[in-house]
Amino acid sequence: MRKVLLFGDPGIDDSLAIMYALLHPDIELVGIVAGYGNVSRDQATKNAAYLLQLAKREDIPIIAGAIRPLSGEVNVYYPEIHGPSGLGPIRPPANLQVRIYPFQTIFSLVNQYKNELTIIDVGRSTSLAITFLLGEETMKKVKEYYIMGGAFLTPGNVTPLAEANVFGDPTATQIVLEQAQSVTMIPLNVTNKAIITPAMIDYILKQNHATFEFLIQPIFHYYFKSYQKLQPGSKGAPLHDLVTFSALSNPSLVEYTYREVEVVSTGRTGNTRGLTVADFRPRSQEKSHKKDTRIGLNLHTDAFVQDFINIMSR
Ligand code: BDR
Ligand code: CA
Repeated sequence: MRKVLLFGDPGIDDSLAIMYALLHPDIELVGIVAGYGNVSRDQATKNAAYLLQLAKREDIPIIAGAIRPLSGEVNVYYPEIHGPSGLGPIRPPANLQVRIYPFQTIFSLVNQYKNELTIIDVGRSTSLAITFLLGEETMKKVKEYYIMGGAFLTPGNVTPLAEANVFGDPTATQIVLEQAQSVTMIPLNVTNKAIITPAMIDYILKQNHATFEFLIQPIFHYYFKSYQKLQPGSKGAPLHDLVTFSALSNPSLVEYTYREVEVVSTGRTGNTRGLTVADFRPRSQEKSHKKDTRIGLNLHTDAFVQDFINIMSR
């Protein structure tokens, strides 16, 4: 069993990632740190709690993450992609009981699962960066990190150059890349290829599926329609966040290279804010530098889709 502590901002693709993790036989979700990003932190915690309630997994702690970026700017939410509540047209029930655990719970979990915990970060990296500012020594006990973020020599999705998670708090991404050991970045180069279509969702819902039945269809439909507005003619929508989990459980799904990553954090609204840079010129040894990050550069799409359908149909 792979033990995973998730940092995220649910959000439709975050929510589908949480469902995938909960349904996966080899993944044990040990906690969710919910922070601002696609929605406010308050909404993110409610959405996470709703998903756990539907899965009858209220035993998984939801931890309060950050409410704004370290980089100083006020975050912009994305209702046009994720809906006003982050779950497309769905709102969690008003009487939902949400038990929120304090930030220190992260360190308790890292100690509890010493050297066997994978941290997956699929939101702005503010909360994860703060763990290093508060508990540098404890975070050395984390086995590895998977981060959805960045765009290497390919267009961004919030600005011409930047991907949303890095753009949202570039200072935080920089801190994480400097401090964390064994980091895998899953950038847009990979996640833009993780396209799921309405036909695939229909197929999944025809299988023997119960836990999230009434949620998957409307949230995916909303997300798909948003992408069609952004990119007219698109046949599906990219499940950015979910790829981190599929990459973790299927080591050959993504093609990687090792390079040092630089994050451009200057500029309040400047064109280069959130740009991720690496030197991809050929070099003699693939893994030669201590500061290298493992960067995903390509996805085996057929295998990704097959795995997605298998897990979501459970
Ligand atoms: C990332 O930005 C967020 O809006 C999505 O949930 C995903 O984590 C994609 O750039
Ligand atoms: Ca996200």
